[in-house]
Order: sequence, then C-alpha cells, then structure tokens
Amino acid sequence: MITVSIIVNNELVSAEVEPRTHLADFLREHVRVTGTHLGCEHGVCGSCTVLVNGVPIRSCITLAVACEGLEVRSIEGFDVDSVMESLRAAFSREHALQCGFCTPGMLIAARDIILRLPDADEARIRRELAGNLCRCTGYLGIIKAVHSVVREQAKLKGMVAAGPAPVKRAAAPATVFPPNLDQARQDPIPAAPAGLVRANEAGEPATPSQSKQGWTRFEEKFVIHRPTTEVWEALANFPVIASCLPGAELIEHDQQHVKGRMTVRLGPINAAFSGSAVITRDETTMSGSVRGAGTDDGSKSRTKAVATYRAVANPSGPGTCISLEVEYNLQGPLAQFSRSELAQELGRRLIGEFASNLNGRLQDPHMGALGKPAALNANALIWATLTQRVKRFFSRMAGGREGSH
Ligand code: FES
Ligand code: FES
Repeated sequence: MITVSIIVNNELVSAEVEPRTHLADFLREHVRVTGTHLGCEHGVCGSCTVLVNGVPIRSCITLAVACEGLEVRSIEGFDVDSVMESLRAAFSREHALQCGFCTPGMLIAARDIILRLPDADEARIRRELAGNLCRCTGYLGIIKAVHSVVREQAKLKGMVAAGPAPVKRAAAPATVFPPNLDQARQDPIPAAPAGLVRANEAGEPATPSQSKQGWTRFEEKFVIHRPTTEVWEALANFPVIASCLPGAELIEHDQQHVKGRMTVRLGPINAAFSGSAVITRDETTMSGSVRGAGTDDGSKSRTKAVATYRAVANPSGPGTCISLEVEYNLQGPLAQFSRSELAQELGRRLIGEFASNLNGRLQDPHMGALGKPAALNANALIWATLTQRVKRFFSRMAGGREGSH
C-alpha cells in the first residue's frame, strides 16, 4: 500500500491505495465522487474522462500514484463554471443524452474543445469527440449541442472584444504541484502590533466565521523578531517548522510535499493524525499555502485543512508580521469537538506556542540538533484557557463593583 495525496475538486485528499489503483477507482472508491463512469476500462470509450491539471485524461488508464500532488477535476467540480452551465443547457435542449452514462466524460471533453478551439465547426467537433463513445443516443444531438455552445461563446466574445483575455488552456500535467494560491487569500493584511496578536484589542478570541459548510475558519497574526527574508526562508525549512509545532512529527518531505503525524491529548483521547500536505510558496508576495489531510486510526476521525500565510515587515516595529488563515474540517467521532470555542482557542494557543518556539529558535545563533516539542496537550491548554476566562470574569466583576461606588 502507498499513501497518495491528490487535490480533487479543490480539496486535498489522501488515501492508502495499492500502487496499481487507477485514478477512476481512486475517485470513485476513496473520494466517493462517482460521476466519473467506467465503461471499457481500456482507454477506449472516454466515459472516465477527467481533467488533470486542466488537461482531459482517461482516468481508467492513469495510475493514482502518477497524480500525486496534482489537481484533478471530475464532473462534480464543474458546478460553478459558465461554459459547463451552457453545455448542460444545450445537452438538455438538443436531447444529447439518454441513459447519461457517457455524459460526464462527454461534457468534460466538449468543454475542452470549446475552450481550445473557439471556431470549431461540426466536422472538427466530430473529430475531436471521436474518443468519446455514446451507446444509446447517437451523436447528432451531442454535436449540435456542442456546436451551439461554440457559437454562443463566439458571440459572447464578440460582445466583449475589448474585454478580458480569452480563457487559456492550462499547461500539461507537471510532475510537481503548481502554485495555485487563492487570490482572495492574498489580500493585504492590516497593520499588526508586536507579539501574538489577538483578533480584537480586548484580547478575546474573535468569533470564528464559518466558510464552506462543515468547515471552521479562523485568522491569527504574530510577529517574529527577525528580518523578513530570514523568516521567509525559515518557513521553507520544514524540519525547523515541525520542531516548533507542539505535537508535530515530520516523517518525510521534499520541497512541496510533507508527510507527518500530529498528536493531540484530550482527556482520555490520544489522537494521532497521520497524513500529508502539499505546500505552495509565492516568492514575490512572500505568501504560501498548506493543504493537508490526515486520519486518526484510533478514533477513525478524518481531518482536512487549508492554511494560507503571508510574511511582511512588521509595520509597528522591527521584525516580521505573519498573518495566517486556517480553515479545517473534522469528520468522525472527534468532529463534535471541532466547532467548539475551546477548539478555536486550542488552535490559537498552538499558533502562539509555535510563534514563541520559532522566535526562540531563530534568535539562537547555535540552533544545534532539532529537538521535538512535546505532544500537544489539549488538557493543559484548555485548563489554561478556562483559568484565564475565570480571571477575566472576576476582574470584570471587580471593575464593575468599583465603577458602581
Ligand atoms: Fe476509461 Fe473507457 S472507461 S476510456
Ligand atoms: Fe447513454 Fe451516451 S447517453 S451512453
């Protein structure tokens, strides 16, 4: 068995598979996206067509391990896509499907033709679609539907001739994961004071906002008292980063992938999430992202997380301000814990400990052998949180009584 991590419809998925597992089985059996159909399993019928890094491929003759770190888009990943929306309407209007078995692969291939060949005529569409077989409808409706969308797109392009550049076909699949930072996460960050900065001035944790359904999101900022270029470089040093993160253990890594384990103690629960992550870094904006997924075999809980970060010169003093945004999703028996305020606090304290460990490590000129920080003891952190809250409560009460005199 081998662990494979693939970004499927924008989410990183990791699974243990046999090396011979093909991508279609990986999608259907491990990711449970079953819109990818298997017809011939010989690369002939095209039912299993999906995009890998933007290029249509036959998932029945592509090994899952060959897609490690790549972006795969199956038919489920086109919910919000204007060309696909037009194609769906056209297929319905022109009666281009009957049983629908060939349709997911047909739609993905058709969309590629439309984007790649904006002036394709019917003959060209026939030739391009020759690798996608339909066993029940016949091809007249399919060709008419695709051609109608080609014309529709041409008309739209004519109307916005002076507008944005035409859609470009993505590059062929690479052997490494290409940087693909979410633009929304690269917004400039506001000024940050020194030290670990709370989300509001009172030192109260900010209310976590919910992003996608079932995901929890929070933001944090902290200052590392070293120059920005040095901090940026340290952030790419995975052994150093892992040694500063309580409970983290680095198993293996290259420049863009890490495999590791994260141990958390919470009451009687001793969870150890094993998994992997894909790292991207943008040197020009000094920003990056980490997309990871892991499983705790003991509790059978699964987690997925996306963290984006950015390093800028600290605007309010020396050092570097790091802004961090974390979104995570926890499934299984531990999921009930994921949304609680304490879980958010736990995340923040983890980041606080990480910041202080990294500060210590970068300020020590003799870094020496990398030690392993203790496992993340949630009990201690939660106890500290509760103590802090009780203290805050009594100091508010005392303040209120003084004010009332
Ligand atoms: Fe892949 Fe037929 S199932 S080409
Ligand atoms: Fe049935 Fe194409 S619609 S195989």
